[in-house]
Amino acid sequence: MPELPQPDTKGHISVESALVTRRSCRNFSNQPLSEKQISQLLWAGQGITYAPRGFRTAPSAGATFPISLYAILPEGTFKYDPQTHNLIAVQTGDIRHTLAAACLEQFFMTSAGLIIVIAANFKRTTSRYGQRGKRYVILEAGHFAENIFLQAQALGLGSVAIGAYDDKKVAKIVKLDETDEPLLIVAIGVKGDETNA
Ligand SMILES: Cc1cc2nc3c(=O)[nH]c(=O)nc-3n(C[C@H](O)[C@H](O)[C@H](O)COP(=O)(O)O)c2cc1C
Repeated sequence: MPELPQPDTKGHISVESALVTRRSCRNFSNQPLSEKQISQLLWAGQGITYAPRGFRTAPSAGATFPISLYAILPEGTFKYDPQTHNLIAVQTGDIRHTLAAACLEQFFMTSAGLIIVIAANFKRTTSRYGQRGKRYVILEAGHFAENIFLQAQALGLGSVAIGAYDDKKVAKIVKLDETDEPLLIVAIGVKGDETNA
């Protein structure tokens, strides 16, 4: 599914409402997400909002843009291309179970319709800002993640941050670019039975 539909820039839920209702969800129903939902979530993370300068939904220190989003879907792994708002195929097949195992066996992730690995090429930012750039890159990953959480909430979907994982295993399983390091994983899906949440 490399072609993504255009994202909506107007929604029906206020930012305040998304903020007050957001809660981590670890119980997904295993339903696939629609192309529209996938498009919207990736765009919220780092979609281009000012094409002439390549500026995005989240701020970036010195506009160095060190972050990449890897989208893990049941059918395969893709890298999000903000410039074209499309997915670039990385590998086919469902890696959710292997990935969950590398996330200290957090197997609830296997029912998430979309898992986003937020990865960074630190050099993009440290080459300009030196050691301080490391801080900027990690902060930036947080901006992306919160955008995705609020967008998931506005779409009525559940989401959770996953920070407990083996870095090397995740990089290998997802087939990250050699220059990318995984900083945070976000699992998003249709909410399952509330009583098991
Ligand atoms: C950096 C970071 C890493 C996290 N890692 C995990 C994780 O590996 N597994 C998990 O189930 N939740 C993880 N969480 C979610 C927290 O447990 C959750 O945000 C916290 O319990 C507060 O609940 P709330 O998100 O519903 O407000 C993480 C959150 C953050 C910010």
